[in-house]
Amino acid sequence: MMPNMSLTTPFAVYVHWPFCLSKCPYCDFNSHVRHGGVDEARFVRAYEGEIAATAARVPGETVSSIFFGGGTPSLMQPSSVQAILDCIGKHWTIASDVEVTLEANPTSVEATRFRGFRSAGVNRVSLGVQALDDFALRELGRLHTSQEALEAVAVARSIFDRYSFDLIYARPQQTTDAWAAELKRAIAETAEHLSLYQLTIEPATPFFDLRKAGKLNIPGEDLARDLYDLTQTICADAGLPAYEISNHARRGAECRHNLIYWRGHDYAGIGPGAHGRLTIDGRRIATETERRPEGWLMRVEERGTGLTVSEKLTPGETADEYLLMGLRLVEGIDPERYSMISGRKLDSKRISILREEGAVETTADGRLRVTQSGFPLLDAVVADLAA
Ligand SMILES: C[S@@+](CC[C@H](N)C(=O)[O-])C[C@H]1O[C@@H](n2cnc3c(N)ncnc32)[C@H](O)[C@@H]1O
Ligand code: SF4
Repeated sequence: MMPNMSLTTPFAVYVHWPFCLSKCPYCDFNSHVRHGGVDEARFVRAYEGEIAATAARVPGETVSSIFFGGGTPSLMQPSSVQAILDCIGKHWTIASDVEVTLEANPTSVEATRFRGFRSAGVNRVSLGVQALDDFALRELGRLHTSQEALEAVAVARSIFDRYSFDLIYARPQQTTDAWAAELKRAIAETAEHLSLYQLTIEPATPFFDLRKAGKLNIPGEDLARDLYDLTQTICADAGLPAYEISNHARRGAECRHNLIYWRGHDYAGIGPGAHGRLTIDGRRIATETERRPEGWLMRVEERGTGLTVSEKLTPGETADEYLLMGLRLVEGIDPERYSMISGRKLDSKRISILREEGAVETTADGRLRVTQSGFPLLDAVVADLAA
C-alpha cells in the first residue's frame, strides 16, 4: 500500500478554471475561449461563494489536497489562486502536508507566473507538454514548441519540489521507435511523476470529424497495444512504474489528489462543470455544477451555488463507482470494502473466469487488481464485475 500522509480521512477540493487561449482539436474537457477577456475578479468572488456554500454542507473537513484543473488554470493571476486558497482555509482546516497542484500549459508567458503561484501556496505543478515533437505539437493544435515546453519544465523544476508533465501517445502516424525515443527524452526531464495518456478520439471534437473523413491516421488496436506495452517497460526500467493506468511515479511521489478519487474518498467540486462526491448524513452524494462558465457565474450570484445536480447514490452505485475507480489503480480494490458498501459480495465465479483469462489477480493481502495485460481491457473487466 502507498503511504497516506494525512492522519485524517482524505478530503480534496477540485477547482475548475474553464478558460483556455485556444481550443485543442482533440479536447472535450469543459474549456472555453473568451477573446473578449474574463472578469477574473467576479469569477473569484463566485468561487468564494461556492466554497462557502459547499463548506456549509460538509463542515469540519480537513483538506488533504487541492487541485486547480482546467481549462488552463495557469492563465489565472496568482492573486486569484491565493484568494481561492485563503477562502478554502477559512472554511475548512488545511492539512499541514496539503498537496496543492495547479495544471499549467507550458508557454513562456505562463512560466513567468510560477513563482507567484508558489508564493500563493501551490506546491506542485502539472504541465501539459503533450509531445516533444514540433510537428506533432502543431497537429495537436498546441500553442508551444517542444523547446518552449522544456524551458517551462526547467522553470518548474527550479521553483517547485514536485512537478509532473503530461504526454499524449498513440498519435497520428506515431511509430514505436519514435515514441520510445520521445519517452526516454521525457524521462530525462522527469523528477518524480509522468502522466501518459493514449490519444482518445472524443465525439464532437475536430479530431472526431477528421477521423470520420479518413483524414486522421491514428494507430490501430495492435499498434496502440504495442505502444502501451512499450510505455510500461520503458517507465518501469526508469524507476517510474505505473501506479494507475495512465500515471507513473517514483515510490511515494504519486499524485495524492487523484488517489483520493480512485480510492473512493470525498472531494468538493468547485467551479463550472465540476463534479464532487460528498458524504452527508452517512449517504454518498454526487454533485455537478452548471457547465457554461457564465451560466455558472450567474447561478452562483443569484442562488449562492452553481449546483445543478446533488443526488444520493444508492449503495450499489457507490460500490460500482469504487470498483470503476479503484481498478484503475495497480494496488486494486479491497473486496471487503466493496461488500461493506454494497451489502453483497463480488461474484466469485466471474472473478475466477477473469483470473483464468489473466485479466485480474488477487494479491497476498487479499486485494483484487487488474494485471498489466488486463489493463488495456479495463472497461470490459469493470463491466463484467459491476452489479
Ligand atoms: C484537460 S487538460 C488540462 C491541462 C492543460 N490545459 C493542457 O492542455 O496542458 C488535461 C490533460 O488531459 C489530456 N487530454 C485531453 N484530451 C485528451 C484526449 N483526447 N486524449 C488523451 N489525452 C487527453 C492532456 O494530456 C492534458 O494535459
Ligand atoms: S487540452 Fe488543455 S489547453 Fe487544450 S483545450 Fe483542453 S484544456 Fe484547453
